[in-house]
Amino acid sequence: MPDQLTKLAYQTMQQGKSLLGLAHKEVSTRLMGVLSPEGIPKTVPVPPELMGRLKTAMDALQERDWQEAEQGLYPSSLLFDAPWLDWATRYPMVWLDMPSTWNRRRERNVRDLPDDVDAGGYPDYYLQNFHHQTDGYLSDHSAALYDLQVEILFNGTADPMRRRVIAPLVRGLRAFADRPAGQIKVLDVATGTGRTLRQIRGALPKAQLVGLDLSSAYLRQANKWLGQLPGELPQLVQGNGETMPFAEGTFQGVSCVFLMHELPGEARQNVINDCFRILEAGGVITLADSVQLADSPQFSTVMENFRRVFHEPYYRDYISDDIEARLKAAGFEAVVAESHFMTRVWTARKPQKPGQNAS
Ligand SMILES: C[S@@+](CC[C@H](N)C(=O)[O-])C[C@H]1O[C@@H](n2cnc3c(N)ncnc32)[C@H](O)[C@@H]1O
Repeated sequence: MPDQLTKLAYQTMQQGKSLLGLAHKEVSTRLMGVLSPEGIPKTVPVPPELMGRLKTAMDALQERDWQEAEQGLYPSSLLFDAPWLDWATRYPMVWLDMPSTWNRRRERNVRDLPDDVDAGGYPDYYLQNFHHQTDGYLSDHSAALYDLQVEILFNGTADPMRRRVIAPLVRGLRAFADRPAGQIKVLDVATGTGRTLRQIRGALPKAQLVGLDLSSAYLRQANKWLGQLPGELPQLVQGNGETMPFAEGTFQGVSCVFLMHELPGEARQNVINDCFRILEAGGVITLADSVQLADSPQFSTVMENFRRVFHEPYYRDYISDDIEARLKAAGFEAVVAESHFMTRVWTARKPQKPGQNAS
């Protein structure tokens, strides 16, 4: 397909996703108003000029996504990578799940987890219904709905935002350009259902990829998605990002997407510290998460509403946190950050050892 036609197809698809996401939210909010009015969160009205800014930022994200595919950072097929049929079959489950979500919100019940969960196996902050999600992160049911729910939440921009970690990761890994591609190891911390690993596999077809998450149910779902890809299956490991079961210096690259805002400050620092430990000297870390008040004050209303609508107990603390300072405190250098629509991306390097070659 000629480039302009492919670009138009991509833009049209994204617009379609955005409209579907908005329509879903409009209908579900009205339905909640009828069936569970006490559960309706009190949100701050979004003025038209803010809607305009959001649209501009979303368009810029898509343009960046398109450009980076054009530059060959990842295959343009990734731009269209969506399991439509699968999502269509799961979509009714999202509706069926909604009343229990409303109940939890209304009753402020944020510890409604499956009975068979071994509470001792997880940090206390994790044992909650983030986003009022049924079973928290701790069931196959939750894992089956997660991707579609995130897709709806972000109006179809979740993967374009996740892909923003690719360019800094690929550039950072050039420090190891003298090694065969198959010897490069990249870890995705809090990989969830593996959507970020799927994008990274497209960009780094030969690298050894590893995904770590606390939820074995989410890892089972990741295994299903990633098993469909050609090439070596990424290794999936159950564990806590604060104390990862890997030796010092195991990886040359680490990514971590949409985790920081779900951790208390101390755990955030612990995860960053452990990423530093498991990286080889000269290795690159790239973190992506929500924009924050300091870099995107124009979106403060959106951040406030996110916190009011979803159970996100650490989000308020997160949006005022200094992630750059945390990266430096862990020992990282060359910290840079940029914002893309609703996502902030930080990239940093573990200092090289004296005499180590910098490429
Ligand atoms: C919002 S999801 C993000 C998942 C994925 N990175 C994505 O882009 O969709 C947060 C994920 O972090 C995981 N998680 C939360 N705390 C964790 C911890 N301390 N260690 C490892 N994983 C954790 C959850 O199980 C969940 O899969």
